[in-house]
Amino acid sequence: MRRSLIAGNWKMNKTIAEAVDLAREVSRAATTAAGREVVIAPTFTALASVSEAIRGSVVGVAGQDLFWEEKGAFTGEIAPLMLKDAGCSHVIIGHSERRQYFGETDDSVCRKVKAALAVGLTPIICVGELLSEREENRTFAVIERQIRGGLDSLAADQVEKLVIAYEPVWAIGTGKTATTVQAEEVHRFIRRLVAEVFGKAAAEKVRILYGGSVTPENIDDLMKEADIDGALVGGASLKPESFARIINFT
Ligand code: 13P
Repeated sequence: MRRSLIAGNWKMNKTIAEAVDLAREVSRAATTAAGREVVIAPTFTALASVSEAIRGSVVGVAGQDLFWEEKGAFTGEIAPLMLKDAGCSHVIIGHSERRQYFGETDDSVCRKVKAALAVGLTPIICVGELLSEREENRTFAVIERQIRGGLDSLAADQVEKLVIAYEPVWAIGTGKTATTVQAEEVHRFIRRLVAEVFGKAAAEKVRILYGGSVTPENIDDLMKEADIDGALVGGASLKPESFARIINFT
């Protein structure tokens, strides 16, 4: 029912020329992934060139962040319509690196989600616990706070359009993937929480991706889980062969 989505978060990597080359390779690989949605998130400087290079392909383009204001004196920020203008269909919001290093909060995530939806961008909202929080058995409490805060006062018909990415911080870039049991347990928790707050229909439609050391070796098992609708891939999305294999999971 829910369409699978594989998204590549390129983080702060690639020049414009390198990004265009990689995007073309992804777009070739994606032609065999019928019925699946594929999105790549290059850096801001490469967005327009990448969108142009793969125009007409099935691959969507995402920003890695945005600001909620339309325009004005906000040096260094990127407005929602600027992402649309650069060819984006999606935007990553609240990635743990932005929470850890750049002061992103549940409140700013929520403002950004609303601003993205207002211009028709699909938000990919990231949530996830730190290792210390998992060790203190606070995983569900942290995820609940992030979901309630980040989705605060949204309508059910907005929530059903969202993509939520569960990315345990201890699994990001560490090679330590959550086990399928650990991932599915949190995904199920998120879907139940969405059902409780926004209703069952929204919970059935919202897509929940797993992120954190996703590789060609573990993608097939992750995708077997009922509540895992796709993946948000970092490191492995920078290698064309790896990402091609992940897109074409079985
Ligand atoms: P890795 O796949 O490199 O662990 O990164 C995950 C991530 O942060 C995607 O947003």
